Amino acid sequence: MKPFLRRSIPALAAAAVIVAVAATGHAQPTSGSQPIAVGRALPNVSLPPHVPPATPTPDPDLPASAGKDVLQGAYLARIGDCTACHTARNGALFAGGLPLASPIGTIYSTNITPDKEHGIGDWSYDDFARLMRRGISKDGHTVYPAMPYPSYSRLTDDDLRALYAYFMQGVKPVAQANKKNDIPWPLSMRWPLGIWRTLFAPRPEPFAGDAGADAQMLRGAYLVQGLGHCGSCHTPRSFTMKERALTDRDGTAYLAGGQIVDGWTAPSLRNEHGGGLGDWNEAEIVEFLKTGRNGRTASFGAMNEVVHDSFQYLTDTDLAAVAKYLKSLAPANNAAPYRYDPAVAQQLYEGHPASTGAQLYLDRCAACHRSNGTGNGKAFPALAGNPILQTADPTSAIHIVLSGSSQPYTEAAPSMLTMAPYADILSDQQIADVVTFIQQSWGNRGGTATADQVAKVRKTATPVEAPPPVGRRGDRP
Ligand code: HEC
Ligand code: HEC
Ligand code: HEC
Repeated sequence: MKPFLRRSIPALAAAAVIVAVAATGHAQPTSGSQPIAVGRALPNVSLPPHVPPATPTPDPDLPASAGKDVLQGAYLARIGDCTACHTARNGALFAGGLPLASPIGTIYSTNITPDKEHGIGDWSYDDFARLMRRGISKDGHTVYPAMPYPSYSRLTDDDLRALYAYFMQGVKPVAQANKKNDIPWPLSMRWPLGIWRTLFAPRPEPFAGDAGADAQMLRGAYLVQGLGHCGSCHTPRSFTMKERALTDRDGTAYLAGGQIVDGWTAPSLRNEHGGGLGDWNEAEIVEFLKTGRNGRTASFGAMNEVVHDSFQYLTDTDLAAVAKYLKSLAPANNAAPYRYDPAVAQQLYEGHPASTGAQLYLDRCAACHRSNGTGNGKAFPALAGNPILQTADPTSAIHIVLSGSSQPYTEAAPSMLTMAPYADILSDQQIADVVTFIQQSWGNRGGTATADQVAKVRKTATPVEAPPPVGRRGDRP
C-alpha cells in the first residue's frame, strides 16, 4: 500500500465516523416528525437592557406558589419546544424515552425532570448551562446534536436561569430510567461528537443583533435564531450536517429552505416571491404561527407540531417580533410576484380537463380546494399561489396527498379539518399527475412530480390519524 494511503485511511475513517455521528443531528422522533439543529455554540450573554421582557401566559399546571422565574422558564420551555423531543407518546412530561431515528441508529431522548436518580435533579445551574450552551453533559460526555444546543446557546443568562428554575421547581420529578441508544459500535463511540463539536460548533459568540436594530427586531432575531431553532428545519445543511448559516449575517442561505426531513421540506422563510414569504405581511405570519392557518396556507407535516406544542403559546408581542424579523430578511432570489392565471379554472369549469392530472383533480380534490384553486377561506387552503406549490421540489405536496393531514389543534383555532390520505386510492403515477397539475396550474410555478419520487415518499409516509376530539388541550407545555 502506498504510504500516503496508509496514513490517510485512518484519518478518512475517523472523518467518516465524525460525519456519520454528526448525521445524528438530523435525528427525528420516529413517531412524529421533529428534526434537529446543528450549529455553533454561544456564551454567557445578556441582551441589551432595552429588549422588552416576554410576558408569559400563566400556566395552569404550575403550582400557585410558582415564582416569576419559574413562570418565565415555563414560557421559555414552550418557545424552545423541549416537549417535542423529551416527552414520549403518552409518556410523562419531560421523562424522555422518545425514539429519534437517525441515519446511524435510534437515539432516545433523556429524562430531564428533576428526579435525582434518572433525571437532572442533582444538576447545578452550571451543569445545566454547560449542556445548553456547549452540549456537554454533567458527566462530561458530549450529547448528540439531535439536541439543538447550538441554537439554545444563544440564551441570555437571565433566560437560562429561568429555564433552570422551571425544570427544578415547576416540573414534576419522574423516576423513569433512560433507554440505551440503539447505535452499533463503532458509531456508538461518543468521542467523535467532541471533535464534531470543536470543528462545526465554533467558539461561542455573544448573541448580537444588527447595530441600530430596534428592540422589537432584536427580540425577533433572538427568538428565531435561538430558542425557536427555526433554522434546524428551514436552513440548508452542508455535507457535515452543519447548518450553512446560523444568522442572517452569514448570508442568504440562512432560512432559505431546508432539505427533506422525514419526507417534508421546510420552505424558505426569506422574502422572495414564489416559495418564500415575499407575498406575506406581518399579520399573516403571526396568524399562521398562532393558529396554524391563514388565508394563504394551512400548516402541515413537521410544522404542525411546532405550532401545536410551541408557537401557539407565544405572546402577541413575541409573535409580532418574530414576524418583523422574518420580514427583514433579504430575498434569496428575485422571482416575480405570483399572478393568478384563470385559464385552467375556465377549462375545469367548462368540463374540459386538459390532462389526466386535471381530471383527477376535478374528481378527487376540487370539492374542497375548488376548480379555481382558491379553496375555501381558512377551512380548505387555497392551492393557487400557495407557497408550498411554487418550489422546485414537490416532496411536501406528494407527501400530503399520500398521507393526508389534519390542521393542528390550537386554542385560538380549535377546528382540525382533515384531508384524507390518498395512498390506498391513487397509484404512484396518478399522484405524480395530480401533484404536477397543482404545482403548475392557476399561475403556480412549482416543479413537476414523477412516479419514482412518489414511490420514494410512499415508503415512509404514514396516513394521518383521525384527529382527537375537539377540545383536547394538547400536550403541555
Ligand atoms: C429536537 C429534539 C430536542 C429538543 C427540541 C430538545 N432536546 Fe434536549 N436532548 C435531545 C436528545 C436526543 C438528547 C440526548 C442526546 C444524547 O444522548 O446524546 C437531549 C439531551 C438533553 C439534556 C441532557 C440530559 C443528560 O442526561 O445528559 C438536557 C438537560 C436537555 N436535553 C434539555 C433540553 C431542554 C431544556 C430543551 C428545551 C429548551 C430541549 N432539551 C430540547 C433532543 C432534544
Ligand atoms: C375533504 C376536503 C379535501 C379534499 C377532498 C382534498 N383536500 Fe387537500 N387539504 C384539505 C385540508 C383541510 C388541508 C389542510 C391540512 C392541514 O393543514 O394539515 C389540505 C391541504 C392540502 C395541501 C397543502 C396546502 C396547505 O397550504 O396546507 C395540498 C397541496 C393539498 N391539500 C392537495 C390536495 C389534492 C391534490 C387533493 C386531491 C387529490 C386534495 N388536496 C383533496 C382538504 C381537502
Ligand atoms: C421541525 C421542523 C421545523 C421547525 C423547527 C420549524 N419549521 Fe416551519 N415549517 C416546517 C415544515 C415542514 C413546513 C412546511 C409545511 C407547512 O407549510 O406547514 C414549515 C412551514 C413554515 C411556514 C409556512 C411557509 C410557507 O411558505 O407556507 C412558516 C411561516 C414557518 N414554517 C415558520 C417557522 C418559524 C418562524 C420557525 C421557528 C420558530 C419554524 N417554522 C420552525 C418545519 C419546521
